[in-house]
Amino acid sequence: MSRIISPSFLSADFSDLDKDIEMLNGSKAEWFHLDIMDGVFVPNISFGFPVIEAIRKKTDKVLDAHLMIIEPDRYIERFAQAGVNYLTVHAEACVHLHRTVQNIRALGMKCGVALNPHTPLSAIEEVVHLADMVLIMSVNPGFAAQSFIPESVDKVRRLRRMIRERNTETLIQIDGGVSLANAATLFDAGCDVLVAGNAVFKSENPRQTIEKLLLA
Ligand code: DX5
Ligand code: ZN
Repeated sequence: MSRIISPSFLSADFSDLDKDIEMLNGSKAEWFHLDIMDGVFVPNISFGFPVIEAIRKKTDKVLDAHLMIIEPDRYIERFAQAGVNYLTVHAEACVHLHRTVQNIRALGMKCGVALNPHTPLSAIEEVVHLADMVLIMSVNPGFAAQSFIPESVDKVRRLRRMIRERNTETLIQIDGGVSLANAATLFDAGCDVLVAGNAVFKSENPRQTIEKLLLA
C-alpha cells in the first residue's frame, strides 16, 4: 500500500495559481487533483483544458483528473493530450464502463473509476482488476469543504478486501472532507491516496499540513 496526498485545486487561489503550484511543487504532495465539473453531472462548473494545460507546463508531478461530467468518452483523448496521468471517470456516468476503462488505458493514461456515496461497490466488481484506481467519494461531488460521510470508512475497508481477494494492484483513493482529523483512520482502512482541498489550501501552512497528513 502507498501513502500519497493529492491536493485538490478546487480550493486553490485562481487569481494566483502560480503561487499554489509553486507551493505544491516544493511540497511532499506527489499528485495534483484536478476536479472537472460540467454543471450537468454535478451542480457546479469548475475549469477545463486551458487551466489543465497551464498547470501541466509548471509541474512534473502526477496530474490526477477527476471527471464529474457526463459522456466522458468524448473527451478522453483531449485529456491525454493535455498531459493528464490519471484519468478518473464516474461509474454512474459511463454506460459502457468496461470500454471506457480500456480506452483510457489504450491512450497511455492510468484509469480511475469513481463511486458516488450511494453507489454500491458491486458497480465496479467486474472492472476492478482492470482499473488502476478506485475513487470512493466521501461527499456528494460538486463542492469543496463539505463534511465527510462517515460510512465511507467501511466502504473503503470492504473495497480493500475486494482488491485483496482479486489479487490486483488497484489503488484506493478517497475524496471529500479529508482532514487531519480522519487521515489516520483512512490510511488504516486501506486508502492509498487522500485527496484534500480545503484542509490543505485553507490551512495556515499548507506544506506542513501535507506532511502531517502523510504521517497521520
Ligand atoms: C468534490 C471534489 C473534491 C473536493 C475536495 O466534488 O471532487 O475533490 O474538491 O475538497 P475538500 O477536501 O475540501 O472536501
Ligand atoms: Zn475530486
